[in-house]
Amino acid sequence: MPRITFIHSQGKSGEVPENLTVLEAAEMLGFPMEHDCGGNASCSTCRVEVMVGGEHLSEIDFEEQDLLDREALTEPYHRLSCQAKIHGDVMVQVPEEKWGTTESVKEESETSQS
Ligand code: FES
Repeated sequence: MPRITFIHSQGKSGEVPENLTVLEAAEMLGFPMEHDCGGNASCSTCRVEVMVGGEHLSEIDFEEQDLLDREALTEPYHRLSCQAKIHGDVMVQVPEEKWGTTESVKEESETSQS
């Protein structure tokens, strides 16, 4: 079975059945990941950065590419964990804080300055 590693301060690593999505693997290993749209490729809160083993993930389909393009996530290591299926060992980086839109990041920084 493929091994997946989530790089995060509370990250997990473990073997999971092939063809699970990265998000499903996280749930199976007890690692909570954001997934605001429920895995429907419409929110991008589940996105990860693939550090190792990108070639062991399923190809990016039209829906995933469309959302990555709209979010300006054009680097090949950006993937939506709800869409990327695992076919071999992979290591992904998960942000410590929830991904935010430009608006919410701006609001947070304004709030923290006051
Ligand atoms: S959970 Fe929304 S895009 Fe993956």
